[in-house]
Amino acid sequence: MTVPPLEDLVLGLPEIDDDHAESIALWTAARDAGPAEFGTRLAAFVEHLAAHFAREETLMRRIAYKEIVHHRAEHARVVVEGRRFAAQAMGGRTMMARAWATDWVPDWYRRHVLMFDSEVARVAKAAGAA
Ligand SMILES: [Fe+2]
Ligand SMILES: [Fe+2]
Repeated sequence: MTVPPLEDLVLGLPEIDDDHAESIALWTAARDAGPAEFGTRLAAFVEHLAAHFAREETLMRRIAYKEIVHHRAEHARVVVEGRRFAAQAMGGRTMMARAWATDWVPDWYRRHVLMFDSEVARVAKAAGAA
């Protein structure tokens, strides 16, 4: 089975899609960074992720989204984990952080967009919030 690239995960809601495109760009920069830059690139990805999640949660509140608690918990968990790995990488311990960034993040990201964000976009569009 061919796995589609992350860039194909477009939901048709610009305020979410723009953040997703930026997250993918920052993730790609971290993945491709050499040892000297990896920590700061990973931190930049994770901090943008935190801001992107906060914007999504604002949208969820605006549309009185019923699954916000579950979705927000998933966001919070990943930000805590990401900040821990970014801090490790900034401190020169990169092995686990590299594995997280290159192996875990893309799979998680795809699943999160398909299972969580796509439903927010569907409800937002139905509510005329798009
Ligand atoms: Fe998202
Ligand atoms: Fe999300």
